[in-house]
Amino acid sequence: MLDLTGKNALVTGIANNRSIAWGIAQQLHKAGANLGITYLPDERGRYEKKVRELVEPLQPSIFVPCNVQEDADIEAAFDTVAKEWGKLDILIHCLAFANKDDLSGEFSQTSRQGFALTLDVSTYSLTRLVGAAKPLMTEGGSIVTMTYLGGVKVTPNYNVMGIAKAGLEMSVRYLASELGPNNIRVNAISAGPIRTLASSAVGGILDMIHHVEEVAPLRRTVTQTEVGNAATFLCSDLASGITGQILYVDAGYEIMGM
Ligand SMILES: NC(=O)c1ccc[n+]([C@@H]2O[C@H](COP(=O)([O-])OP(=O)(O)OC[C@H]3O[C@@H](n4cnc5c(N)ncnc54)[C@H](O)[C@@H]3O)[C@@H](O)[C@H]2O)c1
Repeated sequence: MLDLTGKNALVTGIANNRSIAWGIAQQLHKAGANLGITYLPDERGRYEKKVRELVEPLQPSIFVPCNVQEDADIEAAFDTVAKEWGKLDILIHCLAFANKDDLSGEFSQTSRQGFALTLDVSTYSLTRLVGAAKPLMTEGGSIVTMTYLGGVKVTPNYNVMGIAKAGLEMSVRYLASELGPNNIRVNAISAGPIRTLASSAVGGILDMIHHVEEVAPLRRTVTQTEVGNAATFLCSDLASGITGQILYVDAGYEIMGM
């Protein structure tokens, strides 16, 4: 049965009500999970206020800042999880970042700094968070991250983020192999294009969405709720035999050759 009652789920990556992480958090809550939310801190505390108000109806029992580029933030967030919950069952990694300049134009012009930044936030952060989560997943667990087809095939303007997602998908496999003996499953969802803060930085995102609406078998793209449902499934016992996989939630677009 899809019942997450008694499960502690830490969700990263909520920025606003368009965030995929918000879709996931809502569905995990509906399934009965006890939520912890991390947000990206900024100097003026704007994110904190917005995210706090948004998630209030889900009554998270943990609400902590976590910039994944800061080891101290990650340690403090997981210390809070250890203190408040004792054990962690579910980790949702739903974040990425690249400079807008690196998400259009010529890939060959990507700067060293832009390349490193993108891979640090979007790829390495999964490994770092999983390393922190592993000792707390004492009764097994499920970890879900978010990827996109641009990590497998060339899609316009995705550029350096495609390299980051390729690395992320391979990280899922290495992590699944390492954590499997602890009954911790690691999977990724490859979502179709959805309008969000992050995707609006990718050049021509609206054209991509229109193309998917014309070509995908379901003749549309997907919603945050559909991704949230798939993530909730992957976090549940219904998916107990699934690890190291990339699950496409993209209205079928990935199967099309033309
Ligand atoms: N929107 C799409 O079309 C789409 C498709 C496939 C995959 N994805 C992936 O879904 C995930 C969520 O993106 P989204 O589209 O919901 O956009 P979003 O802008 O709502 O979410 C991105 C999140 O990353 C967080 N973030 C950025 N830098 C961070 C840092 N240093 N530390 C901590 N958090 C940081 C932001 O605060 C934000 O909450 C990303 O991995 C993205 O690549 C998105």
